[in-house]
Amino acid sequence: MKRIGILTSGGDAPGMNAAIRAVVRCGIAAGFEVYGFHRGYEGLLEGDAIWMERSDVGDILHRGGTILKTARSRRFMEPGGLERALQTIKNLRLDGLVVIGGNGSLQGACKLVNAGIPVMFLPGTIDNDLAYTEKTIGFDTAVNTVLDAISKIRDTSSAHERVTIVEVMGRDCGDIALYSGMGGGAEVVLTPEYMPRLPYVYNKILSGLNRGKLHSIIINAEGSGVSSEELEAGIEAHTGKETRTVVLSYLQRGGSPSADDRILATLCGAKAVELLEAGEKGCAIGEKGGKVFAMDIFEAAECTREPDLSLYELTEVLSM
Ligand code: F6P
Repeated sequence: MKRIGILTSGGDAPGMNAAIRAVVRCGIAAGFEVYGFHRGYEGLLEGDAIWMERSDVGDILHRGGTILKTARSRRFMEPGGLERALQTIKNLRLDGLVVIGGNGSLQGACKLVNAGIPVMFLPGTIDNDLAYTEKTIGFDTAVNTVLDAISKIRDTSSAHERVTIVEVMGRDCGDIALYSGMGGGAEVVLTPEYMPRLPYVYNKILSGLNRGKLHSIIINAEGSGVSSEELEAGIEAHTGKETRTVVLSYLQRGGSPSADDRILATLCGAKAVELLEAGEKGCAIGEKGGKVFAMDIFEAAECTREPDLSLYELTEVLSM
């Protein structure tokens, strides 16, 4: 019987469990034995794996986090790391691996494919920063979490006639900020891709106030280049409005995955098994135009994406 391994790596993302479930159950249905590694690439280094049966992935579809645990393994990328991982793969006689994670995890997967191990990569990160795919597993849930927070913040912000800065995650990618800002009616969204001059932000707030707006919501992505403290002080000084900052932080990584994330994770997991069964050597699986697709893993790692600046403009026009 053929054997495959699965691991989740990097920051956890809602939907990782749904992907694990799909890989385990589709894998068993295809005649594979499935081994789950704990703590991402760390488990591969340590040989820390469990044999997984259908029942091991029962009741996890709706849960955030990852039952396999996750880690950002520096050791795997350091000298000797790959060799240890290859030894584990040899010891367990694995015929292939499914890796679920973000950018760093994709780099790790490429190293394994380079060494001759068939790897299917699934995009699992709230950041939506993998350019080869339109959506990553976890992004939709994170945006919904931010939208829920914005709705609540709006109530109190409006009651006190304040400005509120909502700081969101995303590392070097502004997608969580952009999409939650657009969906949540923010005045301005500041991200690594779009950073208007601060006087523009102050004037935007002032013109809203002059038209009788009770409150303003500014979304600041953690990687925008301006700290929320600096922004808060600048807004108070230039608009005279009381300003508060809410840092949503790890709240954005938890919670039950949305319908979109469960479905994306399930389809990607099923595709990974199908490709391993077909003897593919190294693929990244993603979504384009609502369809799940696979491409060469090295090409996927090289992809870049231009930001769609018109969406920032639209967000600002809508909140005028
Ligand atoms: O990649 C997901 C993410 O939550 C980023 O948005 C954030 O910058 C980073 O992880 C935080 O990493 P850590 O969990 O190591 O604090």
